Amino acid sequence: MHFKALALASFVSAAAGQSLTEALENFQEQLAGMTDITLLAPSDAAFAGTLANDSLTELTANEAMITSLFSYHVLNGTYSNFSIMPEFIVTALMQGPYSNVTGGQVVEVIASSNSTNATVSFFSGLLQESMIIPPGSTNSSSGSGNGTTFDGGIIYVIDQFLVVPENITNTAVQLNLRSAVGALGAADLDTSVNGLTDVTCFIPDNEAFQAVGATIATSSDADLARIMQYHIVNGTVGYSSTLTNGTTLTTLNGIDVTITELDGNIFVNSARVITPNVLVANGVIHVIDGVLNPGNMTASADPTATSQEPAFSGASAATDAPFTSGVTSATTSVNTEAPTSIASAAAGTSEAKAPVQTGAIGAAALFGGAAIMMNM
Ligand SMILES: *[C@@H]1O[C@H](CO)[C@@H](O)[C@H](O)[C@H]1NC(C)=O
Ligand SMILES: *[C@@H]1O[C@H](CO)[C@@H](O)[C@H](O)[C@H]1NC(C)=O
Ligand SMILES: *[C@@H]1O[C@H](CO)[C@@H](O)[C@H](O)[C@H]1NC(C)=O
Ligand SMILES: *[C@@H]1O[C@H](CO)[C@@H](O)[C@H](O)[C@H]1NC(C)=O
Ligand SMILES: *[C@@H]1O[C@H](CO)[C@@H](O)[C@H](O)[C@H]1NC(C)=O
Ligand SMILES: *[C@@H]1O[C@H](CO)[C@@H](O)[C@H](O)[C@H]1NC(C)=O
Ligand SMILES: *[C@@H]1O[C@H](CO)[C@@H](O)[C@H](O)[C@H]1NC(C)=O
Ligand SMILES: *[C@@H]1O[C@H](CO)[C@@H](O)[C@H](O)[C@H]1NC(C)=O
Ligand SMILES: *[C@@H]1O[C@H](CO)[C@@H](O)[C@H](O)[C@H]1NC(C)=O
Ligand SMILES: *[C@@H]1O[C@H](CO)[C@@H](O)[C@H](O)[C@H]1NC(C)=O
Ligand SMILES: *[C@@H]1O[C@H](CO)[C@@H](O)[C@H](O)[C@H]1NC(C)=O
Ligand SMILES: *[C@@H]1O[C@H](CO)[C@@H](O)[C@H](O)[C@H]1NC(C)=O
Repeated sequence: MHFKALALASFVSAAAGQSLTEALENFQEQLAGMTDITLLAPSDAAFAGTLANDSLTELTANEAMITSLFSYHVLNGTYSNFSIMPEFIVTALMQGPYSNVTGGQVVEVIASSNSTNATVSFFSGLLQESMIIPPGSTNSSSGSGNGTTFDGGIIYVIDQFLVVPENITNTAVQLNLRSAVGALGAADLDTSVNGLTDVTCFIPDNEAFQAVGATIATSSDADLARIMQYHIVNGTVGYSSTLTNGTTLTTLNGIDVTITELDGNIFVNSARVITPNVLVANGVIHVIDGVLNPGNMTASADPTATSQEPAFSGASAATDAPFTSGVTSATTSVNTEAPTSIASAAAGTSEAKAPVQTGAIGAAALFGGAAIMMNM
């Protein structure tokens, strides 16, 4: 099959306006010069769903934005098979307003180990899951497919658009991590953290903040800033595939956190990773179940405990999650069920469990982040 024809069929079927047409022409010129790539082409149904939600009109008003969305669907390298271990594949979405990750933004891919119904899932921004549709299939039942080869590489049809990863704050809002968003704001770190290159963020969930809420909410501004800085690693994008047992990472306040793998779980000091690998514009977020304490170098996971002690000795809980006042609410429903447990990946178990998709990512979320980032 001729590559250009397929790209056109897929992308132009949605052509709505002048700027989209121009963007497509530019995109195709860009593609024409590329070899050794894998193109993830959204299915017609994926286009129809997006068009139905008006968002493409918004998107097409901005050529740079649509180019970045398309670039994100181009993987660097010809991938003919995928592993049951999570892989983070570099895309053609390079450094720029939508990507502050050295070498280019990535997409996570995981194959299922089920040989009778093999599936391949890509996870992009906001944990959006896009599955490969086997050639010849007219419905949305997904499968491993085998791709269609062309001169420059291979093409797979996927059932949903990838979502371009958004900034840390908006991603945390959409994942309902409201305490963390409020605490980053209160510590005056919001803007600076979103402006870093190559970041790993360990973000405690609301319950984690609430468990130490009465103590942490009365910390001085300087102490709160030190605590929040201890959750951010500058200069390293630590996808789960790189967080091996015993890894230490230096945080923004200069103190290290330690990664430990115990009984199939991954811990950051004593906090457990509950949702790994949420891709953001400038790196990755791992959601954790405890607030990290830079003043507690001895905090470590107790393998015999079902839940860990907070890392703040004598801390008391608040009646509500702290720091949430004034924090905006999620506008979309994100499935935070871990795509694969970070730990089963680390432990190399063969059951890479297919996630359950609980909610569609609103099209506004799909393109909204990119829209805002254009204004920066
Ligand atoms: C569009 O909106 C409808 C209803 O709100 C939803 O069911 C559907 O999944 C959305 N499609 C996309 C691609 O977001
Ligand atoms: C693809 O990756 C190779 C290194 O593996 C790099 O040299 C090349 O610049 C990349 N190309 C693009 C378009 O990202
Ligand atoms: C699948 O990938 C593995 C590792 O990259 C490689 O050794 C193997 O040959 C590949 N199989 C096929 C059918 O491409
Ligand atoms: C990317 O990071 C650099 C700092 O490394 C910063 O100057 C720049 O503003 C960031 N870009 C975006 C779009 O956030
Ligand atoms: C594999 O997929 C088939 C078909 O969807 C299903 O019936 C079976 O239970 C799956 N097996 C495992 C081990 O998940
Ligand atoms: C969808 O396609 C698969 C094969 O790709 C087929 O097994 C299944 O029966 C189809 N389902 C419907 C409802 O057409
Ligand atoms: C294969 O698995 C996918 C994803 O879990 C599911 O949507 C599809 O119906 C399954 N196909 C068959 C034939 O069981
Ligand atoms: C993919 O290719 C393999 C062998 O190369 C074949 O056994 C399998 O049926 C193909 N799958 C599909 C969905 O075409
Ligand atoms: C983050 O790292 C970059 C590159 O090493 C450095 O230039 C920058 O000052 C660091 N930012 C902070 C806030 O530490
Ligand atoms: C990880 O390292 C710790 C020691 O720091 C050890 O107790 C634990 O067994 C190791 N985990 C694995 C899975 O090897
Ligand atoms: C350090 O963290 C551990 C939990 O790992 C906790 O039991 C202990 O009380 C903490 N110590 C201090 C001084 O906060
Ligand atoms: C993060 O993204 C949101 C939504 O796209 C935007 O409103 C906000 O200004 C951004 N924040 C920063 C610090 O870039």
